Amino acid sequence: MGYLGYRKADQVLISSLRRLEYRGYDSWGIATAGSDGIGVYKQVGSISEVEAFDLGDSSLGIGHTRWATHGAPSEINAHPHLDCNRQWAVVHNGIIENFLSLREQLRDEGHRFVSETDTEVIAHLMEKNGGDLEDALAASLKELKGSYAIVVMGAGERKLVGARYKSPLILGVGDGEYFLASDATAILEYTNRAVYLEDGDFVVVTDEGYRIKNQGRNVEREVELIPWDPADAEKEGYDHFMLKEIHETPRVIEDTLLGHISETVDLDLSLAVGTSEIVFLACGTSFHAALLGRYIIEEVADLPVRVECASEFNYRKSPLNRTLVIAITQSGETADTLQALRKAKSFGARALAITNVLGSSVTRLADEVIYTRAGPEIGVAATKTFTAQLIVIYLIAAKLSRFSRTEMERFLLELRLIPEKIQRVLDNADKIQAISKILAGYENMMYIGRKIGYPTALEGALKMKEISYIHAEGYPAGELKHGPFALLGERTPVVASVVRDETYDIMLNNIKEVRARGSPVIAIADEGDEEVEKYVDFVIKTPEVESIFTPLTHTVALQLLAYYTAKERGCEIDRPKNLAKSVTVE
Ligand code: M6R
Repeated sequence: MGYLGYRKADQVLISSLRRLEYRGYDSWGIATAGSDGIGVYKQVGSISEVEAFDLGDSSLGIGHTRWATHGAPSEINAHPHLDCNRQWAVVHNGIIENFLSLREQLRDEGHRFVSETDTEVIAHLMEKNGGDLEDALAASLKELKGSYAIVVMGAGERKLVGARYKSPLILGVGDGEYFLASDATAILEYTNRAVYLEDGDFVVVTDEGYRIKNQGRNVEREVELIPWDPADAEKEGYDHFMLKEIHETPRVIEDTLLGHISETVDLDLSLAVGTSEIVFLACGTSFHAALLGRYIIEEVADLPVRVECASEFNYRKSPLNRTLVIAITQSGETADTLQALRKAKSFGARALAITNVLGSSVTRLADEVIYTRAGPEIGVAATKTFTAQLIVIYLIAAKLSRFSRTEMERFLLELRLIPEKIQRVLDNADKIQAISKILAGYENMMYIGRKIGYPTALEGALKMKEISYIHAEGYPAGELKHGPFALLGERTPVVASVVRDETYDIMLNNIKEVRARGSPVIAIADEGDEEVEKYVDFVIKTPEVESIFTPLTHTVALQLLAYYTAKERGCEIDRPKNLAKSVTVE
């Protein structure tokens, strides 16, 4: 964050950093520049635990909330970092890959380093290069390798300078005030007007305005309206953002459908013309959406689909000519997904992105973008954005299908009915919470499913492990007997996503096998399924939908199951340990 305007900068920075905390939260710090030089305050832990402090009346400052990559979370390692003479202060996201050699060189020249971070080299490089703030940073950037969003200020100049390369940075434009921030939620309280900076952009902000350069040339960038309401970034009475966001799912589905369907699907998929296959690239929860996309598109559109884990795609050799690549990333900033997309494009693939964030990096890389309209997601666990991604995938599948008019109408009608059915899952939260109270006492769990029940199981397990810290594994039900059976027993409950399609009978057999090995079984199944309850310990019933849509209803039930289990265990639900919302490093 950076602020230059008329308000008390320390207060603006604290308030904005609170909203950015979901991106990193092991330590934080702010610095302001006034007539008596640069004042700094740093603290380990969460900003909500801020102690009273006052950095004076300055209306110019920078701040940062950290997710440690180089050096443990500590006050010394927290940003901002300063040079030896406290002339420059720097905050930085990303990684300076050549920082070790730079640090050695700077040390030899007499610079004293206090932290273990890569960021500190930027302050010392600026000190070495000298000149005014702009010149010092511009010269230093030439020596950096890696990725960065940097904001700097100096002791004697009323100016902020920012630079972006492979790490997001936006400029908020208010009335007589400016903000530099790594995402829009940080500035929404003050302005909804923003410039989404591009790679290579170098922005200089003063009281008179701002100017942007790229590769030494002045460039014009459009000021865009952030399409989010400040209230979207508040808990609005819920105990946690995660719960609020799960409850927003029905509205998010309606919003995502809006504008994309009429009597048919209104999506421009000209990129798909002539494609021989679809390749999905994604990480984490988005990867699970992609795995579901494989079953959905193959079934509905009869087109071969490959799913590649983005962080592994760099090591793949397979050519992708004439292929449509679809990158799924809610944040639009996941470094692995961006890198995989760059590689796919270098193979000649056409690129479509599904993202939730306007102006995010993926929107610049892709040839076309389809937005999920989920609003900001603050909880680290992806919930409503996952459901919204699935909705877009159903629409893509329908668009690519050879549906007759009646089949299309039926498919779209089912989709339109989903929000109301998910609302009924949410209304059943008490029952799910009661089961969670029991699950909270276990340390290991298994999630199983077949066909579309399988990625649903993976996502259920991911939600459980990331917020409750229970070790939870997702498996195709058929794989259990190839090894994981050895882990079953009365201390390992198994959650089964039971779908009434061709997998139904064999799933019931798998459940019986699991039960025979002593594991308690919790099934997620259709309301109309009266058979399954004979073989399991608990059933969470979800409204009936056509089998292909069950991932939507089942996942919301699994999200609630994870949420209430984590709550019962007293976990930090919105900010699980060691995780950050946007993973902007590879
Ligand atoms: O922003 P993205 O969708 O690219 O994020 C990908 C993963 O980092 C993300 O889904 C992560 O797995 C979530 N914490 C899962 O809840």
